[in-house]
Amino acid sequence: MSDRKATLTFDEKSVELAIYKPTLGQSVVDVSGLGKSGLYTFDPGFMATAACESKITYIDGGAGKLMYRGYPIEQLAEKSCFLEVCYLLIYGELPNKIEFESFKEKIRSHTKVDPHIENVFKAFKPDAHPMAMMMAAASAEAGLHTVNIHDREQRIDTIIRLIAQAPSLVAMCKRHNEGLPFLKPRQDLSYSENFLYLLTAKKEGEAPNKVLAEALDRIFVLHADHEQNASTSTVRLTGSTDTQPDAAYVSGIAALWGPSHGGANEAALNMLKQIGDESKIEEYVARAKDKNDPFKLMGFGHRVYKNFDPRAKLMRETCHEVLKETGVGDSPLFKVAMKLQDIALSDAYFIERKLYPNVDFYSGITQRAIGIPVNLFTNIFVLGRTPGWMSHWHEMLSESYKISRPRQLYTGAAQRDYVEMDKR
Ligand code: CMC
Repeated sequence: MSDRKATLTFDEKSVELAIYKPTLGQSVVDVSGLGKSGLYTFDPGFMATAACESKITYIDGGAGKLMYRGYPIEQLAEKSCFLEVCYLLIYGELPNKIEFESFKEKIRSHTKVDPHIENVFKAFKPDAHPMAMMMAAASAEAGLHTVNIHDREQRIDTIIRLIAQAPSLVAMCKRHNEGLPFLKPRQDLSYSENFLYLLTAKKEGEAPNKVLAEALDRIFVLHADHEQNASTSTVRLTGSTDTQPDAAYVSGIAALWGPSHGGANEAALNMLKQIGDESKIEEYVARAKDKNDPFKLMGFGHRVYKNFDPRAKLMRETCHEVLKETGVGDSPLFKVAMKLQDIALSDAYFIERKLYPNVDFYSGITQRAIGIPVNLFTNIFVLGRTPGWMSHWHEMLSESYKISRPRQLYTGAAQRDYVEMDKR
């Protein structure tokens, strides 16, 4: 893998470091043996650190490219569906017809949630945040299963169970908030139709809107994986302790909740509500540019994409289809969103810093138009990211790995002696 070397010279010592060439993207220098030479690397926020080797997803942030297992996201979004993408992420290849039918059957057979899980929701106030409930329900699942993490088949069965149950768990969070009874999953519907049904049906057997179910399916495809983002890295790190998969999964949910990550779609919608009217946009854009003001345009910018996020382009298309289907495009909130997007895309501050609307900006607007409550947006992201998190966990356990244990640059007090408190 290594045909080049880098030499690091310090304190009159020289250390040779192997350089690895990837299939695509930037080469990496192997610093894993550096500690023995008396130095650690320092990279807060992992700005230049590859924490693992992976074959799942590739992003070229400068070119605005995203591929799952080598397939461009545009082709998958237009021609594939979420469950096929799940199969691709887990197994590494697209399924043939027989493999796909059998995979869908396995998913269908795992959709029912254990009755004990329903009790978890009783512990929550009716207005509890659905991400808090999601973490609790997923944690309760850990109490129901014991998985031999070193057995490939058991790992895959676990991933299938998590993908299959996510629609029910997300829908239960929403229905608990609304005081509605939980519905049983339906076998006669597609994955995304069943999810929309569980989420929105007023009575059993109601037919879900197919255009809106397709839009949700696209949201899931676009969110299915995103290589070593904060929540996926968290799942890998937690999983590296050999903890149970449900526990690693919950750690991913917790990391996703933050507004700098998966919580951005909720934060973007709340920001649009706060702006409220097209006449206020200039004022808020000025605040986002003011370094003395903590306000940021939520749903803009990305750590990796320094070009239009390819998922945002696809999500924008779906967003317009949903606005047309639901007829809500003329409401003040959606007008503010479209005007804000136009202003930010033509403003020098945003152009110079390569700050584009990200996928969360459009997925938030789309979900709102579908009628999904704003505080449920991150749960929808959890559902979409489930195959990504767990495929990374599976990949890590399929190869040799070490417990993740970073070092630190200690800048606290040097050793000193304890001084007893004057108790008088
Ligand atoms: N509004 C205004 N200014 C911004 C914004 C924004 N949304 N994002 C970045 N900047 C500025 C930032 O102040 C800095 O300016 P300067 O160079 O003058 O100091 C410059 O752009 C570079 O930003 P950064 O904070 O160094 O970039 P980062 O890679 O550390 O942060 C980010 C990326 C996504 C956390 C950040 O852009 C952000 O907070 N955006 C809003 C939240 C958001 O939409 N997050 C969702 C990301 S996509 C979903 C996901 O994959 O999880």
